[in-house]
Amino acid sequence: MKQLSETQLQENWDKLIQVIKDTFEDGSERRENLLRMYHDLENRMIMAPASGKEEYHYCHVGGYVEHVLHVVDTARKMSDTYEAAGGHKNWTDEELVFSALHHDLGKVGDLNDEYYVPQDNDWRRKTLGEVYTSNTDIPNMRVPDRALFLLQHFGVKCSVNETLAIKLADGLYDEANAYYMKVFDAKRSLKNHLPYILHWADHMATTVEFDEWKLGDEDEKEEMESKIENIKNVTVAKQDQNGVSQEHEDPVLENKHKDLFDELFGDKS
Ligand SMILES: [Fe+2]
Repeated sequence: MKQLSETQLQENWDKLIQVIKDTFEDGSERRENLLRMYHDLENRMIMAPASGKEEYHYCHVGGYVEHVLHVVDTARKMSDTYEAAGGHKNWTDEELVFSALHHDLGKVGDLNDEYYVPQDNDWRRKTLGEVYTSNTDIPNMRVPDRALFLLQHFGVKCSVNETLAIKLADGLYDEANAYYMKVFDAKRSLKNHLPYILHWADHMATTVEFDEWKLGDEDEKEEMESKIENIKNVTVAKQDQNGVSQEHEDPVLENKHKDLFDELFGDKS
């Protein structure tokens, strides 16, 4: 599983705050309230994962901020692609970035506690890949609803476009969204397509993050198998043709064997 260093966690956090400073007007109420919210939630937000299971996406410390930055970047590209494809863009860049920044805010938890807590059931960790589980001590709310609650708590106003984009970020993966998204009467259909842009961006970013985890895991496995193979080869080289260990060991092979062992299992000295 991916592990971010303390420096990487800090760098991602700084990037997130910079996006806010670059997007919202200096001195505006919205920017001030957002910065206050981020300051208040910093300790939890910087450490939060983006999901609870390994096979989902960015289920590691700092995964939340990393995922949000990924979605902001992908949403910008998705919006450009939509326009390039002939789509009518009737949302502002600020609405686009605001929605991407806060589509998963509810995953940070409520005002007091985190949403994702470490899974302490060993069987569930090993068998189901649950690294985290949801905290049942906080009120049971859907992630987008908690996001909108937090924003209003800190006095951050949302436009209708932003509200619907955050609410519908999971698209039709959330059955409750069918009310808005599975409409067969043109008069009731979404009047603005920002929710689709955000959902596509979130879905694409999540899929890319899944690939990153899956391929990274396979690379790690291959690397480990290759190291074990090297150790076996050196061990065989230390034996004579009858499989008997040589009495006088070759110092070059000895050192190579030790280096490979240390590389695989770490230097225990
Ligand atoms: Fe997301």
